[in-house]
Amino acid sequence: MKKARIAVLASGKGSNLKAILDAAGSGQCPVEVALVASDKADAGALKIAEAAGVETVLALNPKEFPSRSAFDSACGDSIDAAGCDWIVLAGYMRILSGEFIARFRDRIINIHPSLLPAFVGAHAVSDALAYGVRFTGVTVHLVDEILDGGSILAQAVVEIRDDDCEESLHQRIHAVEHQIYPATLARMVQDGFSLNGRIVVWGRHA
Ligand code: GRF
Repeated sequence: MKKARIAVLASGKGSNLKAILDAAGSGQCPVEVALVASDKADAGALKIAEAAGVETVLALNPKEFPSRSAFDSACGDSIDAAGCDWIVLAGYMRILSGEFIARFRDRIINIHPSLLPAFVGAHAVSDALAYGVRFTGVTVHLVDEILDGGSILAQAVVEIRDDDCEESLHQRIHAVEHQIYPATLARMVQDGFSLNGRIVVWGRHA
């Protein structure tokens, strides 16, 4: 099976990047992380990428670009130059420009710490706790123009405990993310999928 080349964009500590790199290294996930880029120079993800010997590791400073489009365009050019098939967002905290989403239509995936469409946005874990739901979870989805609104590739449930705080809940969510993200990437490469409207249909159909 030919490996897919992926670009990972991350702003934070990079535990999902690490899980993907580990799964790729152990042969569980047929991807090669060809590029890692961050909008934060001090992101843990950059250190993880360097330690793993990722070919292209980029710290892009948004302040050095005149606009969001210009930043995304430079990022997209590096992704194309690295020959990446997929763009994997792993805790990437920037809103992508419409041009970037259109340029890489149906090739950008994200992981979100809730069962979408519940609790979109940057505070999904604390919002679920504050609402009092008994179950939340993780969603892997395609990225389109609607925030956290693209087609759903995979979901998993995480139960909320009576004594949970944001930290304890996010820790269990992270543990699930570290399984589901590499597993979903593997399924995408191995099985392929098509879209029927917004519904993901797994498998390659003639
Ligand atoms: C994850 O919880 C993910 O769902 C969200 O951002 C967090 C990133 O964590 N989009 P990490 O940087 O991969 O540790």
